[in-house]
Amino acid sequence: MRSTAMSSAPARTKFRSSMQTRSAPSSARAASRRVLSTSPGPTPRSPTKALLNLRGDAHANRRRIWNRGMNSEGLKGFEHVLAKRLVIMLSQFDKMIAEGKGKSPVDLAAWFSYLTFDFMGDLAFGGGFDMLRDGGDKNGLWAIIKQGAKATAIIAQTPWIVPTFNMIPGANYIMDRLRLFAKESAERRIATGAKEHKDIWYHLMDEEGHEKVKPPVHDVVVDGVLIIVAGSDTSSVALSYFIYCMLCNPELYARAQAEVDSVYPDVESCLDSTHHDELKFLTACIQESLRLFPPVPTGGPRKIPKGDAKIIAGKLIPPETQIYVPAYVIHRSPANFAPAPDTFDPDRWLRTSSDAETLNHAAFMSFSYGAANCAAKHLAWRELLMTLSALLKRYNMKFVDESPNAKTGRDWESTMHDFFVTETGELKVEFSLR
Ligand code: HEM
Repeated sequence: MRSTAMSSAPARTKFRSSMQTRSAPSSARAASRRVLSTSPGPTPRSPTKALLNLRGDAHANRRRIWNRGMNSEGLKGFEHVLAKRLVIMLSQFDKMIAEGKGKSPVDLAAWFSYLTFDFMGDLAFGGGFDMLRDGGDKNGLWAIIKQGAKATAIIAQTPWIVPTFNMIPGANYIMDRLRLFAKESAERRIATGAKEHKDIWYHLMDEEGHEKVKPPVHDVVVDGVLIIVAGSDTSSVALSYFIYCMLCNPELYARAQAEVDSVYPDVESCLDSTHHDELKFLTACIQESLRLFPPVPTGGPRKIPKGDAKIIAGKLIPPETQIYVPAYVIHRSPANFAPAPDTFDPDRWLRTSSDAETLNHAAFMSFSYGAANCAAKHLAWRELLMTLSALLKRYNMKFVDESPNAKTGRDWESTMHDFFVTETGELKVEFSLR
């Protein structure tokens, strides 16, 4: 699989994600679009597609606008938005610690979700969630969005079920709520306009006026929902797995913490990306946790073009076949990382291959590969480095339950389920101020 699978992964020809089904009979496909369209109005015949579901020129065109929003100036603006949310999260942890007389147990997996949902709501629609402030999902939207993403991931594997599914009274409740949420969020964002720090909406709507033709509001609304679906759980799972790997490996945790201490004098200075290049070991630890636990373990399919069979990894793949290149498998293959591909060894990112070991760094694909890779990869890296350096700087952390088979601690890994984006159970961590 090594480089063959990586390099011969075909350019995206047709791509269906958890937002839409895989190849299906045309009637089922149309029906599934009806179920899964996130457009805010009733447009069943030609739903607006999110970036993730576009292909060819339509994809390249929308992606160009996305890429402009993700330039260094755009990223700096998003960083300020994140910093504000991080301050709220840290003050909530401080409060819990104070109330717990010096230390406090926290379900970090949930709190990372609050952080990333709040942050994505800010970027997609200029606000909308306040889960960090509320300490949970007060209006039930988080649950709705998660259920929607999960249902879509399941339906994407069984597209033939869609017509039957649509006949069940109330079956579209989740998608209807999601559409309503998108519609209301968009209306609010249009009414309030851009804030001090620009959001992704600002760039996707081309409020700066770069495009000859202004992007349609519907496109931006569906991409707004995509931002929340694609950018929340992915980042929160990545944050959780990093902490999990650190707590399972105290010596490496101490090294990462020492590096953060050497770069940042205090926690406030962690809320700025200027020194991220100096965080070499922390970056290697994050990359290694993303290697072992890619938040999108299987990834979305790519389709071989009509009339154009391809040879992939030595096998002839017929036209119109959908193929997957699962990051989880590629990352753990001894052909790419050996010996000990299943071991958490961040230093493998600071070495190069030798006679004694295989280190195919190019096989890393947690953010996918090619023209349709993660549109916010650089933002995600900033988010991970900022959040984790602030946590390492301010707190000491350990598992609440240190026993080897604790599902909320050392055996947390066994709670992992692949619903396109990984779903996990509670990760219970004891916090104390350093
Ligand atoms: C650690 C965090 C993240 C990981 C691991 C991740 C991973 C991925 C992967 C694997 C894909 C490709 C899916 C496929 O081909 O099947 C993808 C696509 C995408 N991601 Fe991310 N992502 C992360 C964070 C984010 C964030 C924060 C955002 C939004 C602000 C985002 C927005 C997107 C979008 C819009 C696409 C579709 C790109 C396209 O089709 O051109 N991601 N991501």
